[in-house]
Amino acid sequence: MGGFVLAKSTKDIDVLPLTILALRRMEFRGKDCSGIAWVESGEMRVVKDSFPIAELSSKYALNRVSTSLALGHTRYSTHGKADPRNAHPHLDCERIVAVAGDGALRNYEELYAELVERSHRVVSKSDFELVAHLIENYVRKGLNYTKAFAEAVVRLEGIVAAAALFRDGSAAIYTSHQPVYVGLGRDVVVASSTLSSLYGTVLGYAVVEGGELVFISSGGRVEFADLSGRSVAKKFLAYDLGESLVSTDGYPNHMLREIYEVPYSLLRTVSAVQSRYLELASKVALRSSRLFVIANGTSLHAGHIFSYYLSELAGRIPIVVSASEFPLYYLDSVGVGDAVLAISQSGETSEVVRSVYEARLRGATVIGVTNNINSRLTRFSNLYLPIAAGPELAVPATKTFTSTLVLLYILAKSVSEVSSKPVSKILSEAWREVGEVYRVILSSLDRVRLEAEEASKSISNCSSGYVVSRGITYPLALEGALKIKEAAYLHAEGVEGGELRHGPIAILDRNMFTVFIEPLEPAAASDLMNVAEDVLKYGSPVVLVSHIDEGKERPLAKIRVPSLKRHFMPIGIAVALQLLAYSLARYRGIDVDKPRRLSKVVSTQ
Ligand code: F6R
Repeated sequence: MGGFVLAKSTKDIDVLPLTILALRRMEFRGKDCSGIAWVESGEMRVVKDSFPIAELSSKYALNRVSTSLALGHTRYSTHGKADPRNAHPHLDCERIVAVAGDGALRNYEELYAELVERSHRVVSKSDFELVAHLIENYVRKGLNYTKAFAEAVVRLEGIVAAAALFRDGSAAIYTSHQPVYVGLGRDVVVASSTLSSLYGTVLGYAVVEGGELVFISSGGRVEFADLSGRSVAKKFLAYDLGESLVSTDGYPNHMLREIYEVPYSLLRTVSAVQSRYLELASKVALRSSRLFVIANGTSLHAGHIFSYYLSELAGRIPIVVSASEFPLYYLDSVGVGDAVLAISQSGETSEVVRSVYEARLRGATVIGVTNNINSRLTRFSNLYLPIAAGPELAVPATKTFTSTLVLLYILAKSVSEVSSKPVSKILSEAWREVGEVYRVILSSLDRVRLEAEEASKSISNCSSGYVVSRGITYPLALEGALKIKEAAYLHAEGVEGGELRHGPIAILDRNMFTVFIEPLEPAAASDLMNVAEDVLKYGSPVVLVSHIDEGKERPLAKIRVPSLKRHFMPIGIAVALQLLAYSLARYRGIDVDKPRRLSKVVSTQ
């Protein structure tokens, strides 16, 4: 995971400086490793290491290298830790091709077995190394480089954007879902995972869409094609991204950029699950005497939703508890036979890390769920499942929350089916389901954002409020309130709908907003809508977050969330709440990426 830059000059201009600059501009996609490949006198050269591109450049004196064709990469670890071997670009056995990419290969295990069987020497744990060997495999069969690349990418499953640099000075790119940008400058072609990294080097650019390939000949001719080999005509647009937006990739801040990454991150998450670890985790969860789920903040809310997944799909009810409370209440009773599922985006939250450490000392088996595979949580866990959402820079957790939900859904499904179905089948089914969620969320994002903006106008003058729901969406009421507090500095409390009349309703007036998340359980929904009518009578401005496309006659603001299968609805609702909190924050002029007094990782206590 990370991002790549492929630069080629048609006039022998040294492209290394612009490649390095472009990589620095996309470090928000990860920078725990970096690497550059280039061709020199017909030989493939690569330098790569486990640190960012600026350090790589000085350590390996890249200023002494001059090349008219380079492929660079900056990496975030999801398969294989931050280690020079796992850094991109990767080479095949014969050094014919260098490959760098972004995404996660869903069929890693299958391709690995096949390539090793054909005596390819796979030296890293990175899934993208397999792409280089796969291309080599087709070259060995007699195909030219272009055809070998086209054949190889058809074999890749998951979410993949890959660039290949060939020994003869030609290059190729493929993307399965995420856009890739091909820019044309004076005597240079620069292709990149991000539009913003092309700033200052190109005059115009074309967008390579999911399912398309790009071929750059050794002479610099650029051609676009689809997977069936048909050529695709591209419109080149003038490059007009303002300098102020370069560091956030064209968005006003990282929080909005990361919300817009949600659909792609969902695909990364499911692609990064490895069947043997999922199987192990499922068996541990299934057979343990007690299953504790511990986490803090947003990750704890994901844990509460997991409890619905697990009880509805597998008939097991875990004990979900804040990692801060776990040592005070449960830890002394924990022992051999118990399991702890610890969820932490950063993998470094002190309460989580300490609880996991103590639980292991007492003989419990620990499953870590984290977005940071180089963290203490992964070190202290018996096994871990990567969230694989890519780096999250804004303090409010957004895409990592939705990706955690997908991962926990897959785990719950696997717990329920592991005894009767191969895990690979469970994963294929999950891939299909999540593919649908990806499409629906991607196509509804702009509309939901507009509706969230409108809704936030109607409540932005309030001094506090409630976020209310019931059933599986109740944890989202807690999460929505947390997002509003931390992003918009507005007091908000998550309330279980049935409890509203047991006290909280007493203080409602027109200075206090109420956000109702329409419950997914019909009886709870109709009860809660009756409460909503009362709340309106007390003058509270109401926002309804609903998947039901009716009720426009009610005097309330509405954010319509797309309809999805029950267990995926929390993802669509979470995005709506994130956009609501985001819009409120913008109205109130708050720097959403760095809320005061908060840090991304709470590692001291
Ligand atoms: C909310 C937020 C925090 C974290 C919490 C746990 O947006 O970012 O509430 O969720 O500090 O962090 P992790 O998941 O890194 O353990």
